[in-house]
Amino acid sequence: MRFTNFTNSVNPVFVTAPNIDTIVSLAKRRGFVFPSSEIYGGLGSAWDYGPLGVELANNVKQSWWRWLVYERDDIEGIDSSIILNRLVWKYSGHEATFHDPLVDCRECKTRMRADKLEGYFPEGGGEFNPNERIRAGLVKCAECGSTNLTEERFFNMMFRTTLGAAASDEDPSALAYLRPETAQGIFINFLNVQTTMRRKLPFGIAQVGKSFRNEITPGNFILRTREFEQMEMEYFVKPDAEHLKLVDEWVALYLEWFKGLGIDGANLKLHEVPQGELAHYSKRTVDIMYRYFPEREEEERQWEELMGIAYRTDFDLRSHSSKPVDEESKRINPDSTEDLSYFDESAKQRFYPHVIEPAAGVNRTLLAVLMDAYSERTNDKGETRVILKLSPQLAPIKAAILPLAKNKPEIVGMAKAIKRSLQPVLRAVYDDTGGIGKLYARQDEIGTPFCVTVDHQSLEDEAVTVRDRDTWEQERIKVTDLAEHLQKRLKPFPIVTPEVS
Ligand code: GAP
Repeated sequence: MRFTNFTNSVNPVFVTAPNIDTIVSLAKRRGFVFPSSEIYGGLGSAWDYGPLGVELANNVKQSWWRWLVYERDDIEGIDSSIILNRLVWKYSGHEATFHDPLVDCRECKTRMRADKLEGYFPEGGGEFNPNERIRAGLVKCAECGSTNLTEERFFNMMFRTTLGAAASDEDPSALAYLRPETAQGIFINFLNVQTTMRRKLPFGIAQVGKSFRNEITPGNFILRTREFEQMEMEYFVKPDAEHLKLVDEWVALYLEWFKGLGIDGANLKLHEVPQGELAHYSKRTVDIMYRYFPEREEEERQWEELMGIAYRTDFDLRSHSSKPVDEESKRINPDSTEDLSYFDESAKQRFYPHVIEPAAGVNRTLLAVLMDAYSERTNDKGETRVILKLSPQLAPIKAAILPLAKNKPEIVGMAKAIKRSLQPVLRAVYDDTGGIGKLYARQDEIGTPFCVTVDHQSLEDEAVTVRDRDTWEQERIKVTDLAEHLQKRLKPFPIVTPEVS
């Protein structure tokens, strides 16, 4: 747990959240995230994003989209369907292999993912037979520590649904899935994007959207849920590219992006996924981990995956293509109508591009951002204040306009007019529901970078006080200069919408 001293506060304060529970409570209290379906007793591990949460999530997604699609010249964006033809999931390998091993504890009746249990993997590698290990009593229940477990069985994590009004639940021709990753929507559109946008390798396709997995053990707030959002990008390269180096390059870029969102590098670390634990499509995966559990004594147990960067080879484009054949010259995919290969004009060669895939979670990024931004300040009287030091680009509200006297119509009118004038260039709110101290505290707690106070003097000098969330320093600014002043201070994260010519 890390503490620091603020120059203008008396006591040491937290500079990150001490645990996820602190964020759960802040999120509910201040309108970021609510437990879903609460009035009906809730729905395990489902969460609804409130007025501030939806803004924060939108800002995370917008920052990612700008960074990849607008600021680079080699990436296009798409938005594919959530429900795809079932054959997509057959040929992607998800129908056959997207499953988790499941065990039940015979003592405490808990159902768990076997591969997360102590003793499941043999130490130092070697021969791996999970059921033999379970029978030998080497695998322990995470709840009660018993080794009296059932043998493992596999559970496919894709959510099933049926298409069409007349379809019965058992009709295989009507079976469809909610996508468990956004990536497949990119692969099946590879040719559409490449040809319509006249792209040459290397280039990438980015997509952000919901994914669904019937997780056996969801939990830890928005860290692992059954419905979540992903920001995925498939970067297509030539087969002879330096794939492993490219993985490292994307890891380095994402580390910088996360730091740019305000996440402290000390709370990020890399994890090279061991060969035996790689997904069916991956030759190499590096996970970027975040310290979601700073309260845990053992350093090793403080981390969980924030995102993964995988080298998926040409596995997906090849599997979805109509041409490749097996040893007996039989088509590997007799259902596809397209060959998703690429013709390299300069080398006069046709091949299936290889792919580097950085895949990040919106919800996990949001949780990491909130945990890292959380700080507490305690004054002389022992009163503790929460200050959410969100990066200005992510803050749900950029400026709060506060009248010093809400019973003075001239002050209220001026404050409301200032709010309206700022609204086209930045997200501003007006608030007069408390004394000024309370209003400042409320805005600090939700991460608003600037409070603008309108007082009696403002009526005379046409100026307002701008208070900085992090330093609590105040500056007097002319109303005519206010929008420009705030925008300058919000830089390098302007939120002005692009001009349309
Ligand atoms: N296309 C590759 C892929 O989906 P993944 O590691 O399974 O890779 C990528 O998922 C990211 O999606 C994860 O690093 C995580 O941020 C997010 N994610 C995956 N499952 C999640 C879940 N159940 N709840 C919240 N986020 C999840």
